[in-house]
Amino acid sequence: MIGTDINYAIQLLKAEAVVAIPTETVYGLAGNALSPTAVSTIFEVKNRPSFDPLIIHTSRFERIADFTTDVPAPARQLARRFMPGPLTLLLPKSGNIPDIVTAGSPRVAIRIPAHSMTQELLAALEFPLAAPSANPFGYISPTTARHVADQLGDKIPYILDGGPCRVGVESTIVGFEDGQVVVYRKGGVAVEDIEAVVGPVLVRAHSTSNPEAPGMLKSHYAPSAPIVLGDTESLLSQYHGQRAGAITYRKAAPGISPERQLVLSPTGNLAEAARNLFAGMRRLDALQLDVILAELLPEEGLGRAINDRLRRAAAR
Ligand code: TXA
Ligand code: MG
Repeated sequence: MIGTDINYAIQLLKAEAVVAIPTETVYGLAGNALSPTAVSTIFEVKNRPSFDPLIIHTSRFERIADFTTDVPAPARQLARRFMPGPLTLLLPKSGNIPDIVTAGSPRVAIRIPAHSMTQELLAALEFPLAAPSANPFGYISPTTARHVADQLGDKIPYILDGGPCRVGVESTIVGFEDGQVVVYRKGGVAVEDIEAVVGPVLVRAHSTSNPEAPGMLKSHYAPSAPIVLGDTESLLSQYHGQRAGAITYRKAAPGISPERQLVLSPTGNLAEAARNLFAGMRRLDALQLDVILAELLPEEGLGRAINDRLRRAAAR
């Protein structure tokens, strides 16, 4: 069921059920992070391998102290600047976070979502919420309540509808290794904006099919039609006679009918492009195309997160 009843969501979460919740990045599949029962339900519903850990969500920075043993100085600076917001901090985990949440890792991922409905929900709960993106494992993340309902509607009791996600790509994940700031996933906070606060960072969010850390899986965000990256116009000649769609930044690809196209931002605005990406990929995926030709965006700002998603969607 889809609805806007925060009290009903609270009731379900207190009873260890899982509920889909809106955030500014993507919708999450939430459960009591301190309840191994609720957390294992999340893994089951998502069909997610147990080695892939979950982010915990809380309403205020002061609450982070309960979940970690140490918040290094750069983490504090980043929190001050970007929390609430599309930033996740990887910090040493305290004893009250169950091992199932972090897949046995000594670090826990913590985020404070900037969404009024979910802020209200979190503030009313005594426990944090563990929440991965509310999609079946490996598929495109949902940016509307309808997206969640389409794939998980019959598996969960409630979807809290907070409207379309304002950011549209997942949070940027940042951790700290011997004083070095490391970005593990490019997301809704641009790497340049992080560097403006803490100086140069190491970006270790490369695509790999053999991840040294979970969350770096090469093939992800994948629609069912194969995605091929490159110049859409020259690619089109290679896919002659096939049902081809296109994802482009500002200008539609010549030679492909408009309903099979996703133009991410005609005005060249990367934030708008990020907001349109996942919903657009779902729309194209529903057309049962033979192939989706996609061009990469400028490798700057949110363009880096968008390109990361396109590359992972193209990998198989
Ligand atoms: O924007 C977001 O971050 C969304 C919303 C719902 O908050 N959540 C999200 O969760 O994208 P998920 O589970 O789809 O992606 C979280 C990533 C995973 O790739 C996971 O491997 C990584 O974060 N992660 C979580 N905890 C970790 C940990 N303790 N160590 C290393 N990686 C971790
Ligand atoms: Mg995900």
